[in-house]
Amino acid sequence: MLKRRTLLKGALVAGAYAGGLALAGRFSGAAARSTTTLAARPTEALITDGAPTRGAMTYGDGEVPPVLRMTRGAPFSLRLDNALDEPTTVHWHGLRIDNGMDGVPFLTQPYVYPGDGFDYAFTPPDAGTFWYHPHCNTLTQIGRGLAGVVVVEDPADPAFDAEIVLNLRDWRLGGDGQFIAQFKPRDAARAGTFGTVRTANWRQSPQYDAPAGGLVRLRLAATDVTRILSLVVEGAQAQVIALDGNPVAERFALDRLLVGPGQRLDLCLRMPDAEGAVAALRDLRGTKPATLATFRAVGSPLKRDVRDLSALAANPLAEPDLSAATEIPFVLSASAEERPKDGICGSLGYNFWAINKVPWADDTGDPTAPLAEMKAGRTYVFNVENPTPQAHPLHLHGLVFRPMNSSKQVLRPHFSDTYLILPDEKVQLALVADNVGDWVFHCHIIEHQKTGMTSYVRVT
Ligand code: C2O
Ligand code: CU
Repeated sequence: MLKRRTLLKGALVAGAYAGGLALAGRFSGAAARSTTTLAARPTEALITDGAPTRGAMTYGDGEVPPVLRMTRGAPFSLRLDNALDEPTTVHWHGLRIDNGMDGVPFLTQPYVYPGDGFDYAFTPPDAGTFWYHPHCNTLTQIGRGLAGVVVVEDPADPAFDAEIVLNLRDWRLGGDGQFIAQFKPRDAARAGTFGTVRTANWRQSPQYDAPAGGLVRLRLAATDVTRILSLVVEGAQAQVIALDGNPVAERFALDRLLVGPGQRLDLCLRMPDAEGAVAALRDLRGTKPATLATFRAVGSPLKRDVRDLSALAANPLAEPDLSAATEIPFVLSASAEERPKDGICGSLGYNFWAINKVPWADDTGDPTAPLAEMKAGRTYVFNVENPTPQAHPLHLHGLVFRPMNSSKQVLRPHFSDTYLILPDEKVQLALVADNVGDWVFHCHIIEHQKTGMTSYVRVT
């Protein structure tokens, strides 16, 4: 393992990756070659009104990474082609799929080198709003554009008059519209380094037309590397129908809901009846509230009533058996270690954070031992404590949990894969370990993830 690090520093060439061969036995390997391909590639993007932003990265042929649509219970496959000049992978955030398809270098698959491909194939078990992104050099790769939305449809879901999907993210650009340094170490040790330009689907405050008086399904994915949003809709009624992909037990009115990096929110928006009336999705957090997108009522009013909307179809999730649960403590903290191990792919060069005192920047290779081992099919309760002064959107791969008993937040009963834990909060995340494999558990503020707030758990 040590040899792999030494050998490969600065020499990321496919054939030269001796460690890749050593690791090969670890992985079940790619699926059969898929006829659908998706390239990860460099691009220029029109994000500001000025010059195109150079050095952006995207998936597919268009400017913005495509929304990938799947159907619950139906096989999906896609070949990733790496047209970047660095290794990459695709992680399917929130999808409970086989470990070998989870897209984490060192843990679940080898890197996909420039010019190489990898075949992903799986059957999504749950419907909802999810997303996809690399799990390698992520501050750069996600920060420069590699993040797209996944929509898994359930034919049993109620019909809406329209659907709008919004990929919400920031960009760190200077006044000339070009990328500036992605992070400042002192900010990485705090809330993270914020972007300067805020976008929905890579546009600043875009406007969408929607049927007047109609019911619109708004699917929001918070794909930014840093920013936590506090969302409201002004000028129209908006009800929360799903959190992090999973339907809520009872719909409720949206009112300054905190949505952290990695989280998703599905809303039912009841458009105003008056033709031309405009509703706005806004973020009220921080000192500069922002309008993220607007929706303009068009056509003669449909006069829908939100109370007529039937419930979303439930996903087949196992209910934790709390009478037979094993508790596992997880404490978030700053890290005492000064320097991380040498990174192969995009280490930030600092250790600021840790989980249970163990810092692991997940792109520095050589995963430490799993922080917990679980037995398939059994119920576990993660007792998570956040004594740090920052909020952390904690994401668990491959499994979903029920957040319970927060010391700080009023929780709506739902299943989730990403929990935004507040400063000084204690919370319990209850889950059934029903997916075998090594599953990463990390903060989705990418600077925190990349400077130590990463770990993984094992289900056997
Ligand atoms: Cu959104 Cu470890 O991922
Ligand atoms: Cu964090």
